[in-house]
Amino acid sequence: MNYFKLPLLLLLLLVTACNSISEKSGNSENWWKEGIVYQLYPQSFKDSDSDGFGDFKGIIEEIDYLDELGIDIIWMNPFFESPLVDNGYDVSDYRSILERYGSLEDFKQMIDLLHSRGIKFVLDIVVNHSSNQHEWFKQSRSSRDNPYRDYYHWWPAEKGEPPYRYSIFDPEGAWKYDELTDAYYLHYFAAEQPDLNWENPKLREEVYDIMNYWIEIGVDGFRLDAFQFASKDTSFPEFPEGHEKDFIQWYGMRPELHDYLKEMNEEVLSKHDVFAVAEGAGKTMKDAHELVDEDRKELQMVYHFETVDMAKQPNSFSLKQFKEIFSKWDEAFSEKGWISVFLSNHDNARMVSRFGNPNPEFRTPSTQLLNTFLLSMRGTPYIYFGDELGMTNIDMPTIDQYVDIQAIGDYKKAEARGEDMNAFMEYLNYSSRENSRTPMQWDETLNAGFSTGTPWKKVNPNYPSINVAQQEADPNSVLNHFKKMSQIRKANKVLVYGDYEIIQEEHPTVYAFKRFDEQSSHTILLNFSETNSEITLDEAFEGKTPLINNYEQLQIESNTIVLLPYQAVVFDLTLE
Ligand code: GLC
Repeated sequence: MNYFKLPLLLLLLLVTACNSISEKSGNSENWWKEGIVYQLYPQSFKDSDSDGFGDFKGIIEEIDYLDELGIDIIWMNPFFESPLVDNGYDVSDYRSILERYGSLEDFKQMIDLLHSRGIKFVLDIVVNHSSNQHEWFKQSRSSRDNPYRDYYHWWPAEKGEPPYRYSIFDPEGAWKYDELTDAYYLHYFAAEQPDLNWENPKLREEVYDIMNYWIEIGVDGFRLDAFQFASKDTSFPEFPEGHEKDFIQWYGMRPELHDYLKEMNEEVLSKHDVFAVAEGAGKTMKDAHELVDEDRKELQMVYHFETVDMAKQPNSFSLKQFKEIFSKWDEAFSEKGWISVFLSNHDNARMVSRFGNPNPEFRTPSTQLLNTFLLSMRGTPYIYFGDELGMTNIDMPTIDQYVDIQAIGDYKKAEARGEDMNAFMEYLNYSSRENSRTPMQWDETLNAGFSTGTPWKKVNPNYPSINVAQQEADPNSVLNHFKKMSQIRKANKVLVYGDYEIIQEEHPTVYAFKRFDEQSSHTILLNFSETNSEITLDEAFEGKTPLINNYEQLQIESNTIVLLPYQAVVFDLTLE
């Protein structure tokens, strides 16, 4: 044996071992994987100037609250200049801030303050479409030879009626006739949200400039709104009848999307320590991987809709399906790529009302259970504002109470289909996104402490029993449990990067799983039921104290645990 070669050999072995570890996970460690994201809907968070609309100064006032939650990243919904046809998802100037939120100076102050507390900031960029009030569109529609004409999709009327396209919001369909130039323009969402033409390199450059502009101001990431639809088949062939049921397949995820994303990565993302998450993950796991796998140099993360698309009707939640969805996605991304994990956002009803139990008796433990789940899964957790308190759906049984363009559009579509409108209203009341847009419930004072003016949206009347002030004072509240759980995730990296393995998948009421790596092993037990549930595991739990438990007691007898209604526990079973 040549002893001089020994250190070299050891080095070689070490390098090979390291390579195989990183190949296995296929994932490097990043702040945006470890961070807990808090989605903040700015018009509903805190109003500092009594105009009934949340603003940056209100957020600044609540900086301690945000800091104490233990969150690391804020994703804020759009706050740009907008006629607010779709609550800001219709942007009329991507570089200006809507006055109601405050000035650019206020924005910078807010970002600096967040950064000083170690909180990053993600901006929502809405570039599948703009507002019809954007200067680009005003120019584009003004004449057929305007230089901005190709920023949007136009169909000249002399070619006859354009092939039918479904619109997500507009019961009239996705083409809108515009007399001015005798042509139709395309809008997948509302008529006031014309779709941008990503085939035009000038448009793409404009978008990258906008993104770089906000990075210079201090943002740390982007959420790309509705981005899977940015690439379209612009030969506009006829689609078969009923095709819209498979909307993503027909309307988005074309191969050019990847060219655009690679270009965006080159021009923007790769130049800074920022990340981008796309809304929508395509139709298949392959689509999702092609968006986020590191070697493709496109995006860092996507979020899929499978969970929020389940159980849209009252009482239709199935734990079996819930487990299947999460296990399937985890498995698909266990080696490579990265996804987000979430249960609610501004487009969905409240988390506890859909996946937990909003009745006063069970609201607290069931929200705690859902937060335990979100914060112990692999993937970046996205927590929607108010879910750290267990805010619930609001009861809105009649259509005249609705202001949301999607809810009103869906109502008209259902009416045109001749549906039973009582049943439809029951569905809408349960699943509409108006439910999650009600103002933050800070305390028991007027308007839940959100505003001293008239709130832009009605406060949920249950605020006297669900609010921050009351929960801060109660050690067993949903809020204090959330804070504890966020610290547990930070202290146990295995909950971020570790493997996931479901236990007794067929158990009818308990969702049990392990998160483990070479050094540690955690077991998470969640009782999704109003009654006690028993589970017998391989390990003996007797004498073990859970890292977190949303009840004071826990009934363990050797390998058997009896969980109370919605009891949620996390055990660290790492052997010393
Ligand atoms: C996304 C947004 C939603 C908006 C739509 C159109 O789905 O999340 O709120 O209405 O895009 O921009």
